[in-house]
Amino acid sequence: MTQQLVVEAPAKVNLTLDIKGKREDGYHELETVMHQISLVDRLTITAMPGGIEVSSNCPELPAGELNLAYKAAQTILEECPDRGGVSIHIDKNIPLGAGLAGGSTDAAAVLKGINALYNLNLSPPQLMAMGARIGSDVPFCLQGGTALARGRGEILEPLSPNLQLHFLLVKPRFSVSTAEVYRRFDMAKVSNPPDTKAFLEGWHHCDIIGISRAMENVLETVTAALYQEIDQIKTRLIRWGALKALMSGSGPTVFGLFKDKASAEQAWYEFQICEEEIFLVTSYDGRKSTWKRNVCNRST
Ligand code: C5P
Repeated sequence: MTQQLVVEAPAKVNLTLDIKGKREDGYHELETVMHQISLVDRLTITAMPGGIEVSSNCPELPAGELNLAYKAAQTILEECPDRGGVSIHIDKNIPLGAGLAGGSTDAAAVLKGINALYNLNLSPPQLMAMGARIGSDVPFCLQGGTALARGRGEILEPLSPNLQLHFLLVKPRFSVSTAEVYRRFDMAKVSNPPDTKAFLEGWHHCDIIGISRAMENVLETVTAALYQEIDQIKTRLIRWGALKALMSGSGPTVFGLFKDKASAEQAWYEFQICEEEIFLVTSYDGRKSTWKRNVCNRST
């Protein structure tokens, strides 16, 4: 019988993103709240006698070692060399180079999936350590939910309660390189950092207005300066009812946080005439992952 697993890999948004300084290893010291959303890739992982194969429905997705899912399979199978290989098919829904951790979440799903498929019994800390070697967001993607992340992004403090939030994501036609955005980051240009303490206070009290007031992302100082579309999308999201509009990670995806499902749906209909890719999503609750996607071409 074929041994096969299907694993869901949810995207994330950064509800806050602050940078505390540059580290000696070249990375930046972060303080960021990450939150999983219901936009997911689906990975089918099948046992093979040997080797690693990655395929996808997305022609732009790199094959081989440049693909984080491949790198994850290589990392975990090197630790357990007496097992077989895997074939991984990625049903890709999360846009690439978007600031939504699409590559990192696929890597996390591969680590979890191979651990289960081959009964490797690796513990969560062992998987987290492997994940951190693959990419800064992979440990969060393994843990899931909502977390305050520090360090490179691998020191995680889970946040409760599990709030069910409603978002509209707007992904412009272009993508950005995370490394390039961090390379251009200049602390002197930050005038409006997030109020992380107030955010956490708001989170614990389920105070969505308090949360929305404290949300900021210091990497907007780089990406929004390079691409005027970022601020334009933020303005449109606010005009159409978002409590707050913010870029996720290094961008360029901008998301609006809405007070409820009805307001998010209303904005979704307003955005039908835009030229970006748009997604109507909620917080990921691990049970049902549903989202709506639309790409429209401006006709005038
Ligand atoms: O860890 P990952 O490979 O996902 O990071 C991509 C790039 O983003 C890194 O090469 C680094 O330039 C930058 N980065 C950073 N500080 C972090 C996380 C990422 O400078 N905490």
